[in-house]
Amino acid sequence: MKIAVIGLGFVGLTLSSVLASKGITTVGIDLDKEKCSKIAKGTPTFFELDLKKTLKKALKKNLLITDKLSSINNCDFIFITVGTPQKKNGEIDLSFIKTVVRSVGKIILKNKKKPIVLIKSTVTPGTMKNVILPILEKNSKKKAGKDFGLISNPEFLQESKAIQDTIKPHVVVLGGYKTKFMKKTEKFFSRFNPNVPIIITNHQTAEMIKYANNSFLTTKISFINQIANICQAIPNTNIDDIAAAIGLDPRIGNMFLNAGPGYGGSCLSKDMNALINFSDNVGINPTLLNAVEKINQEQIQNIISLMEKTLGNLMNKQITILGTAFKPNTDDVRDSVSIALIKKLMKKKVKIVVYDPKAIKNTKNIFGEKIVYAKSVTDALDKSHCAIIMVYWKQFDSLNNNSIKYMNKKFIIDCRRVLAKKVLDAEYHAIGLGQKI
Ligand code: UDX
Repeated sequence: MKIAVIGLGFVGLTLSSVLASKGITTVGIDLDKEKCSKIAKGTPTFFELDLKKTLKKALKKNLLITDKLSSINNCDFIFITVGTPQKKNGEIDLSFIKTVVRSVGKIILKNKKKPIVLIKSTVTPGTMKNVILPILEKNSKKKAGKDFGLISNPEFLQESKAIQDTIKPHVVVLGGYKTKFMKKTEKFFSRFNPNVPIIITNHQTAEMIKYANNSFLTTKISFINQIANICQAIPNTNIDDIAAAIGLDPRIGNMFLNAGPGYGGSCLSKDMNALINFSDNVGINPTLLNAVEKINQEQIQNIISLMEKTLGNLMNKQITILGTAFKPNTDDVRDSVSIALIKKLMKKKVKIVVYDPKAIKNTKNIFGEKIVYAKSVTDALDKSHCAIIMVYWKQFDSLNNNSIKYMNKKFIIDCRRVLAKKVLDAEYHAIGLGQKI
């Protein structure tokens, strides 16, 4: 068996590394030559737990990395994992996937094998049937379901758990017609991800499952953030105890109840905007989804208001941002809430100092010399008027009175309640904690 994976971002690189490390002949394809040459040398283009190790193992076994799309020739399965970003109005941008699918069609035209094309990229409902299938059939001059298979296979992996999620996802969703290709795909997944439930459905439902999944997660986060904001007005309340208690109700579940500065990252907001835009276009007013996004955006403003309440005008104040990645254990800053906060603070002419154990390089790519990059937490806090803990990096646990002793004003906003149990000689505010009395 031979498998191709087109698009070597988080999903594609992880998938091709895991497939090949399990002994399956795999070709990982990306049009970016520079990216390919790095990956081929065993260096992932982003930080992801255990990925380097898995990639190296894969390269020693059966992984070929190339920028030549023609390498999909004679593959049994062709996974498409290219990005589907958002346009300015929130609408999904299908240009990358359309280009790739057009080329795949042209290659299938000359192919003797009957490959199965699996779309992992997130696409709005109807895209498979109305856009991807017609492009593939037109360019290959072949019939889907007869000459090649076409299956929606949405991906649910989380960054920082990508390898683990690829080996054992919570579900495998296969959307499409119930053909021999679907049977072959089901058989493949039952071996690749043993004991994982497989849901077989049609294209549109599979596409919608991905949006339903992500928008439920954002709803949980905005829900707990709203409760956290209410808690802040009730002396002595603690959002973590509330989350722990309600999380024990099996109808609620304990995950995604960690209150904070709002959700970020390259997927959740993008998918929310795409779903909101899609709903509007089909005449459904997405009241709940709009509220979820609104609460998310307001979290940043709440942090700024808290700062202004204590510091007054923020102009020329030195503010320390601890954590710029969109979450811990990643160097990814795409759509990070910290980045959005820094942008807002820069407009107020604040002097920004940042520290992050992994994401400084990517943060520098955005802000260049406009902000200061500290080498340690203590350096970052030196002369600061306010420290904001945005991301829970494990090393922030060790922050204490000694670390903050050179702050200009000992004022901390702790969005992740990392220091909640410490006795600090500082004005301390935390998301979701009522003032201690
Ligand atoms: C998300 C989905 O979880 C995944 O299923 C999908 O395939 C891609 O998008 P990811 O972007 O890796 O994965 O991030 P995730 O772990 O979901 O976190 C997203 C954001 O929500 C982060 O900013 C995180 O800090 C925040 N978050 C998450 C919270 O604030 N509280 C929580 O309880 C959970």
